[in-house]
Amino acid sequence: MALPGEIIESTHELLNAHAQVWNHIFKFILPMSLKCAVQLNIPDIIKNHGKPITLSELISALPINKAKSQYIHRIMRVLVHYKFFIKVDIKDENEQNESYWLTPSSNFLLKDSPLCVTPYLLLVLDPTLMKPWNSMSEWLADDRVTATETTHGLKFWELAKTITNLNELFNEAMAGDTRFVSHVMLKDCEKLFEGVESLVDVGGGTGTMAKAIADAFPEMKCTVLDLPHVVSGLEGVSNLNYVGGDMFQAIPTADVVLLKWILHNWNDEGCIKILKKCRDAMPRKERGGKVIIIDIVLGYKEENDTVKEDQLFFDIGMMVYLNGKERSEKEWEKLFLDAGFSSYKITPALGVRSIIEVYP
Ligand SMILES: C[S@@+](CC[C@H](N)C(=O)[O-])C[C@H]1O[C@@H](n2cnc3c(N)ncnc32)[C@H](O)[C@@H]1O
Repeated sequence: MALPGEIIESTHELLNAHAQVWNHIFKFILPMSLKCAVQLNIPDIIKNHGKPITLSELISALPINKAKSQYIHRIMRVLVHYKFFIKVDIKDENEQNESYWLTPSSNFLLKDSPLCVTPYLLLVLDPTLMKPWNSMSEWLADDRVTATETTHGLKFWELAKTITNLNELFNEAMAGDTRFVSHVMLKDCEKLFEGVESLVDVGGGTGTMAKAIADAFPEMKCTVLDLPHVVSGLEGVSNLNYVGGDMFQAIPTADVVLLKWILHNWNDEGCIKILKKCRDAMPRKERGGKVIIIDIVLGYKEENDTVKEDQLFFDIGMMVYLNGKERSEKEWEKLFLDAGFSSYKITPALGVRSIIEVYP
């Protein structure tokens, strides 16, 4: 008997479509299993072992109730399936042993790696930030600006200020991401900073990016502007200083204003206000004035499916947490013109994100 509105003809297709829907429903199990593995320190335990680790060696190194040892291979099995680890069979004198080793993806989970994304994983999956996802439909029906406000009664930045643990988790996640971006940017895009004497990193968090730039260009004077609770207690060094303030009020003057992962947090009206403050803070284009934006440009150039998916996920994330959005080139251009800038250049050098230079 045909199902109402049925468009699938064969049972084979029907079963495939059903499996695909189930697959999406249960996809949350992957990040949750990854979080568990990271909290148990599995990637570092394997790395420190120096060679593939057998299941029994792994179990004995884990801080778990040994009565639950039987569950570890099941968690590892799903992570091996998604290539976070690789399974190798090594033979010892007694028997063939199931062992695990690292993959290119596991490098992003190692604590001491400059590429570590673990703080981001722990932030995104933190129960406080997971809650608004359960309120999306409620938020669409109420008069709150974001699902964060529907759930917690506070705007995102107020929430981060109120919950110390969240503030720390957030700043760590941003710092981790910035270590990755600065690693790529300073290696491949050094020209960006040629001739720049001073730079202000607006919303620069705890200063990871500014520190990397200040180290790479010791002659450059770098300033980090962020909210007072983020920079309180942070000490500058000779060519780096911290300012607690509000980017909607004033931005310290500099040749270059850096906005990494800032504008996607805000709606168009907020972005235009920030960009106008940036213009006020810098010299003319001929004197080296420019804004450097690190953000997503939706659909720019050829992107693979993973990059496209990441961009769509971030767009929904910005909507749920912050009333922000990801933007296409057209949308960026309109913002720049509305804020009084004359031209821009996009360099898609950072995978999911691009570098946009904007000139007054
Ligand atoms: C998504 S984070 C990006 C942090 C950093 N740029 C990075 O990429 O690692 C946004 C930053 O903007 C800061 N911020 C939010 N509102 C601000 C304001 N009104 N003035 C200055 N900074 C602000 C937050 O505290 C946070 O550090």
